[in-house]
Amino acid sequence: MPTIIARSLHSLKKNLNRVKKNKKIGLIPTMGSLHDGHLALIKKSKKLKFFTVVTIFVNPLQFNNKNDLKKYPVQEKKDLNILKKINVDLVFIPKTQQIYPFGYSTYIKEINHSNILCGEYRANHFSGVLTVVCKLFILIQPDSAFFGEKDFQQLFLIKKMVKDLNLEVKIISVSTVRDSNGLALSSRNKLLDSKSLKLAGAIYKILKKSKVKNFKNTKALVLYLKKQLINNGIVDIEYIEIRQSKNLEKVNILNKGHQPRVFIAAYLKGVRLIDNYKIN
Ligand code: PAJ
Repeated sequence: MPTIIARSLHSLKKNLNRVKKNKKIGLIPTMGSLHDGHLALIKKSKKLKFFTVVTIFVNPLQFNNKNDLKKYPVQEKKDLNILKKINVDLVFIPKTQQIYPFGYSTYIKEINHSNILCGEYRANHFSGVLTVVCKLFILIQPDSAFFGEKDFQQLFLIKKMVKDLNLEVKIISVSTVRDSNGLALSSRNKLLDSKSLKLAGAIYKILKKSKVKNFKNTKALVLYLKKQLINNGIVDIEYIEIRQSKNLEKVNILNKGHQPRVFIAAYLKGVRLIDNYKIN
């Protein structure tokens, strides 16, 4: 069946009503500018034989910086060709007005884990993410929704929202897809020139040096990582923190039982890059 393109809530509803009774729906929310990371989520949904719905919506609510929103890469035609080629069942591309009509004033706000890590530096970012994801869950009513571990805090908060609000959707996570250099794929990588892309590959190579047995405590590890990054040209570091994977609590002593994970955000030529790595 050819890929259905829905550009309005009406068209989305009409098309979903046709499939709902006999097929399970798998949802992959994206902001477009698709790459192999997105495709890994889509392929997982297709492998599970879901009626696969991909949304493309650059959500203004999650951008704390107007300029960042303005320069966010958009390539709708190319994205649609990619999605048609892999036989996605339905693509939903709403306009901002349809998601947030004039006078819109209802938001989802998580209060314990949204102001740490990325949330500490991006005011209201996660409220914007949770609000749009919740709206997409309501509009599409998927059986499962797929999210990447690359955005680990986002994945954590979406799982928390689903639990806290008793939403009937299963969240399925997918490991981070990287380029041959180790750099986590991201739509923002399109804003980097080839020299910076190569430099950015150092982030993962350095994160991988985080081994429990090699460091006295997290302070020593963070110090080591910072030094290594700076030596490799990654100087504009927003944060490096070690937290437990299961609850995002900070850890001081490195202990495998806590499933410690290193989280990093850094800027390269003004482009914000994030990554995380499970320490072993
Ligand atoms: P976006 O950055 O387009 O990412 C869409 C989905 O792809 C997210 O679940 C993200 O974690 C996943 N993803 C991105 N890069 C990945 C990679 N290298 N490997 C594996 N998965 C990857 O995240 C968002 O959009 C938005 O916040 C959204 C959830 C759509 C809400 O607006």
